[in-house]
Amino acid sequence: MNFQVEWFDKLASTNATLREQFFQGLDLGSGHIIAVREQTAGRGRQDRTWYSTPGQNLCFSLFVQTHAELMAVPSLTMAVALGVNEMLRALRIRSAPKWPNDILVDEKKICGILSERVENPALNKKGIIVGIGLNVNMSSDEAEAIDRPATSMLIESGRAENLQETLESLFHPLDHWIGKWEQSGFSALREEWTEKAGPIGKTLTVHDGDIKKTGTLAGFGDHGELVLQTAGGIETIWSGDVS
Ligand code: BTN
Repeated sequence: MNFQVEWFDKLASTNATLREQFFQGLDLGSGHIIAVREQTAGRGRQDRTWYSTPGQNLCFSLFVQTHAELMAVPSLTMAVALGVNEMLRALRIRSAPKWPNDILVDEKKICGILSERVENPALNKKGIIVGIGLNVNMSSDEAEAIDRPATSMLIESGRAENLQETLESLFHPLDHWIGKWEQSGFSALREEWTEKAGPIGKTLTVHDGDIKKTGTLAGFGDHGELVLQTAGGIETIWSGDVS
């Protein structure tokens, strides 16, 4: 993957800017990245807002050129989560991926990922935009001001990091895990994902809108969907928040 970063001082959302570039017909290759120092309207899953202190954290979007179908999008998010998690673990941060798109340290979110499939039939171009918000130098006061439990690399390691270098340190693990996904989809990630985001048998409650399901983790399906053993039988879950 040929990583090329375009840095901006201020943008509404890196996902939105990358999307615009894609639909303008720019010839984007896998590894094209839009990164920003201040993101003013960051978006998260389920129409949530992604808040990031200006100049403190990484907010970037990566283009992956692929003809993969919609069903393959969640497992690309999981591949990226494994890559980011690997970088954090190398710095001795005790992070773990959480289904479907988070990385947590002790139940506190350090990274969120939002992937969107894009298709331009006129140009026969398809791809997936992977938006990554990684809390790097956010202070504990700033983390406490967020309405959900949050943490940062600084809070966990006591060390401030250079944003550009932190982004570059992700290239190798992202290349590794996205490469595996490109070859064989979720089956290439299953073992690592289950080890890091499991364990099998753990009790989970999944909330999706008004629906709430409780059971034990039975595993992950062919596309990374969560398989829950409930009192009523096996349930396959494609989206939701797990607690
Ligand atoms: C989530 O946890 O729900 C996903 C959060 C994703 C945030 C990142 S920050 C860079 C990119 N641009 C956005 O507007 N969102 C993603």
